[in-house]
Amino acid sequence: MAENEEKLTETRHERRKRVFSGVQPSGSLHLGNYLGAIKQFVDLQNDNDCIYCIVDEHAITVPQDPKELRKHILDLAALYMAVGVDPEKSIIFVQSEVPGHAQLGWVLACSSYTGELFRMTQFKAKSGGKESVGTGLLVYPVLMAADILLYDTDIVPVGSDQKQHIELCRDIAIRVNNTIKKTFVVPDGRFMKEGARIMALDDPTQKMSKSNKNIHSSIALLDDANKIKKSIMKSVTDSEGIVRFDPDEKPGVSNLMNIYSVLSGESLDSIEEMYAGKGYGDFKKDLVGVVQKALAPIQERYNEIRYSEELLTTLHDGAEKANSIAERTMKRVYDTFGLGVPAKIVR
Ligand code: TYM
Repeated sequence: MAENEEKLTETRHERRKRVFSGVQPSGSLHLGNYLGAIKQFVDLQNDNDCIYCIVDEHAITVPQDPKELRKHILDLAALYMAVGVDPEKSIIFVQSEVPGHAQLGWVLACSSYTGELFRMTQFKAKSGGKESVGTGLLVYPVLMAADILLYDTDIVPVGSDQKQHIELCRDIAIRVNNTIKKTFVVPDGRFMKEGARIMALDDPTQKMSKSNKNIHSSIALLDDANKIKKSIMKSVTDSEGIVRFDPDEKPGVSNLMNIYSVLSGESLDSIEEMYAGKGYGDFKKDLVGVVQKALAPIQERYNEIRYSEELLTTLHDGAEKANSIAERTMKRVYDTFGLGVPAKIVR
């Protein structure tokens, strides 16, 4: 076994599982982000070493207003903490504060193929119909692979729209491990059963998304009680009038049931039983209550944290901790690829 391989195996045995995930600071977070990803962040932090990143370098793959971006970085950090990510247990930091992400991104770009990047469905969706497309949008998944591999990550909690990106990350890691030297831990994605794909309220065939122009297509985590009510009461269902889980035939009602189930803890079966013989009106009215009750404490805590010094301290501490892990990985990567000045004279 190569010396490097031994080291990797040894550290994997010694440590708890390493969890890494990231969210773009590009506008207000919605229920899809929360139920698909961020809720898992909180659940995982007691039994694992968790690192949660605000991926500002990913955000600039599309044009951003610099002042707004800085605000959104702090908004997202405060939201992480408001939903329960605890800086005592997890590392919270901003991607651009750790140079290793961009460094490793470049190295991995040299180990990936343009063909596999052009095949990414998110690239196709974001670039479709545009005359010119930024290079950053194409190499986006390589930077995401760098984020993950930089921390020897075992588990990546994300929504199901990120499955293809995780697969690519695994492919790149395996490629480097097999063709040059065992360097990277190969990670696994972790997807929630019910929250992995929350759909738009106005069109349950599309995923809930930050970029949808109709404000009632999503519920933002910071929406007030009235907006929550309006968006849910307007949501698209079907004409059957029966609260039944059937994502193919009844995507609208099934999506609402998913949201109800994850936020209230009630199973889908028991929701069907609770609303047997009742119409969508009663169900939607109760769902309004469930969502308002879940979001109120998050919003209260967010308002306490967002303008506090604690927020900046958390991000500075987080970057320091993340950097010390990242620097170790980058030494290993430079060694694998033969980059930089060697420790001693070589012939
Ligand atoms: P982003 O910022 O688009 O979304 C953040 C997280 O929310 C999930 N998500 C959803 N889950 C369920 N239903 C939805 N409608 C929905 N919409 C979004 C996403 O799957 C994601 O988990 N590429 C990532 C950010 C990233 C990252 C990483 C993630 C960059 N580097 C490294 C993990 C590891 C993204 O654009 O997420």
